[in-house]
Amino acid sequence: MLPRQLYSVNWDFLSRCLCYNPFVKILGIESSCDETAAAVVEDGIHILSNEIASQIDIHARYGGIVPEVASRQHLLAIIPIIDSALRKADTQWQEIDVIAVTKGPGLAGSLLVGVNVAKSISYAHNIKLIGINHLEGHIYANWLTKTLPIFPLLCLIVSGGHTDLIHMSFHGKYQLLGHTRDDAAGEAFDKAARILGLGYPGGPAIDKAAKNGTPCLALPHSWLNGTHDFSFSGIKTALYRLAEKGKLGNVNDAAASFQEAVVSVLAGKTIAAANACGAKQILLSGGVAANQALRQKLFQSSPLPVQVPPPILCTDNAAMIAACAYFRLQSGIEDSYDMDVIPGLLLA
Ligand code: KG4
Ligand code: ZN
Repeated sequence: MLPRQLYSVNWDFLSRCLCYNPFVKILGIESSCDETAAAVVEDGIHILSNEIASQIDIHARYGGIVPEVASRQHLLAIIPIIDSALRKADTQWQEIDVIAVTKGPGLAGSLLVGVNVAKSISYAHNIKLIGINHLEGHIYANWLTKTLPIFPLLCLIVSGGHTDLIHMSFHGKYQLLGHTRDDAAGEAFDKAARILGLGYPGGPAIDKAAKNGTPCLALPHSWLNGTHDFSFSGIKTALYRLAEKGKLGNVNDAAASFQEAVVSVLAGKTIAAANACGAKQILLSGGVAANQALRQKLFQSSPLPVQVPPPILCTDNAAMIAACAYFRLQSGIEDSYDMDVIPGLLLA
């Protein structure tokens, strides 16, 4: 070993850097709904592994998620998926600095599986524990893309349970500008797909069918002028009334019409909110952000730069939970074993 003074290194500087946790490895765990997921992420931006066990095939039989079935499936899948995430990341337990787990919002029984497994591992291996808001995780999927987002920004979170317009001035600083007054956008896609007989989950099915259709049905575009709020129950009802009267016509055209109406309202209101709050950039996140038409519409019509994660990071995953935890860790936040699940957790 060389004496310290022979190294051409500034030791003061190096030790200060070390306090900033270089090469922090976080194991993320996500089980809020119907995906059991685990991932290892380094420094909040580099994915070393991202494993997802989907329950879609099981719930598809029932036409939607059955909460009791979901939590039992999480129990079966969670340990193998964590093992697989560590193996793919070529990482041992002693290299993991933090366990990050979704604590809400979501299905209580499903969240309990993830949170209790995370607590047990944290205790057994003496690793820090951080509970993460699932919606905040969706936003942080954008830190796992090639370019880092710039503040202040406007994020549209569009998932199965939420449609929120969030102004984010810095890490952890959120203001809710608008939200849905009834159905979430993903929920509307799922219900419309059921009316059209396209199966579950409806979003990807409508996305696919719409590619072979032309938007020709006159469906309501709910602008709710003067607010940043959304409403998607009217369009679903209009589709249902047409189906009742046997006036839906070609299913691909009906899918394209529904998608066009939802996407143009989502994109138009997001751009308006971004202009109103002085955002420098627009982020998209959540399962519906995987929709090709929505991505295209925002890229084409936004005067501001638009960033959206690849589809696999839009739908539920654990890499986004680990990424979010890295930035919480920087502000000194960690949780204790008192942490509980919060099914109705809000972001702002
Ligand atoms: O974020 P997510 O995976 O789970 C929740 O947190 O809810 O979002 C799931 C929702 C479902 O409603 C699904 O139909 C929708 O995202 N979705 C899509 C697409 N892929 C998933 N909606 C439209 N187009 C897609 N390609
Ligand atoms: Zn989600």
